[in-house]
Amino acid sequence: MGSGDAVLEVRNLSVDFALPTTRLRAVDNVSFTVYADDVYALVGESGCGKSTLAAALLDLVPEPGVIASGDVLLRGTNVRSMTADQVRRARMAQIAMVFQAAMSSFNPVVTIGSQVEHVLEAHPEVWPDRREGLEYFDHLLEMVRLPGSRMRGRFESQLSGGMKQRVAIAFACVLKPSILVLDEPTTALDVVNQRLVIDVLKDLREKLGVTVVFVTHDLSVVAELATMVAVMYAGRMVQIAPIDTIFYDRRRHPYVQALLSSIPNVLQPGRAARSIPGQVPRLDQLPPGCRFAPRCPLAEQVCLRDDPELIGDSHHNAVACHPLNRHNSAADGGQELVPGRAVNGA
Ligand SMILES: Nc1ncnc2c1ncn2[C@@H]1O[C@H](COP(=O)(O)OP(=O)(O)OP(=O)(O)O)[C@@H](O)[C@H]1O
Ligand SMILES: [Mg+2]
Repeated sequence: MGSGDAVLEVRNLSVDFALPTTRLRAVDNVSFTVYADDVYALVGESGCGKSTLAAALLDLVPEPGVIASGDVLLRGTNVRSMTADQVRRARMAQIAMVFQAAMSSFNPVVTIGSQVEHVLEAHPEVWPDRREGLEYFDHLLEMVRLPGSRMRGRFESQLSGGMKQRVAIAFACVLKPSILVLDEPTTALDVVNQRLVIDVLKDLREKLGVTVVFVTHDLSVVAELATMVAVMYAGRMVQIAPIDTIFYDRRRHPYVQALLSSIPNVLQPGRAARSIPGQVPRLDQLPPGCRFAPRCPLAEQVCLRDDPELIGDSHHNAVACHPLNRHNSAADGGQELVPGRAVNGA
């Protein structure tokens, strides 16, 4: 966990959507580091900025989005100072993406094989011999549990949702990227296909050595796959921690606690799931202080007033929470944190 080289470093990254009447900050000053051995999960409720952050890693934020500030380093090279051509070559060959809408990301009137050939032709620096590239794609198809070359002649419409997702994963790996970013790889799938995708990603990690970064709002997938977890709330990073801290340690952010409590049977079998009261704030109506405070059972006056900083080591273990950080720095740090002078009640 967290060992090996830093393959991806995100430093103080902010992404804005410039709308006609306002400018919304969808990703706000986010920093994290992914090491070669990590399976890194970006987690949070709908609208918290996960897809925008993932797209920003490849400089692919859709208009009217812009990277307002910050850096993205791929093995130490800053994507933001690359030329357009260097960025184009880095995509797929260094960092590849399986988009949230992977199900519909293929051209419906061109066979899967022709679409792969198109990519191979555009990247002779990776595959000087196109035939070898196609053979490698067949190998990848088998790794994602599909019948190799037979899939190449098919059109998107001839694939089920689960097959499309796995073809998209094989497709993303054809230029041998060192990082594979997947946006909600299991969300639109039934449980059997979810299981398959989880197994496939574990295999790719082990056999190809690719570093997996995935976006999800599903903590059960996180529990199965991730070694490191970064939790976002309303555009901010609220906790970065190894998987064990998220699931078994009391020093987790109250938002993480609330997410865990909202899934049945994770903490205590038989205990009823509790939904998180209130709603994620709109980006144009952010509350002062901690953005989670209006929903937080631990919120104190300071939380409603002052923005908490992410305190700790943003590479491995850090949390943005006033009560938790005060508690962690106190002599009794590590004991369970319970609502004391909370303003929202228990
Ligand atoms: N094209 C756009 N124009 C304006 N605002 C946008 C655009 N795309 C995203 N946003 C806003 O940016 C914020 C983050 O969106 P994003 O899609 O990154 O969230 P997400 O965490 O991926 O959500 P989900 O789990 O639903 O996929 C949201 O508030 C959203 O409304
Ligand atoms: Mg998304």
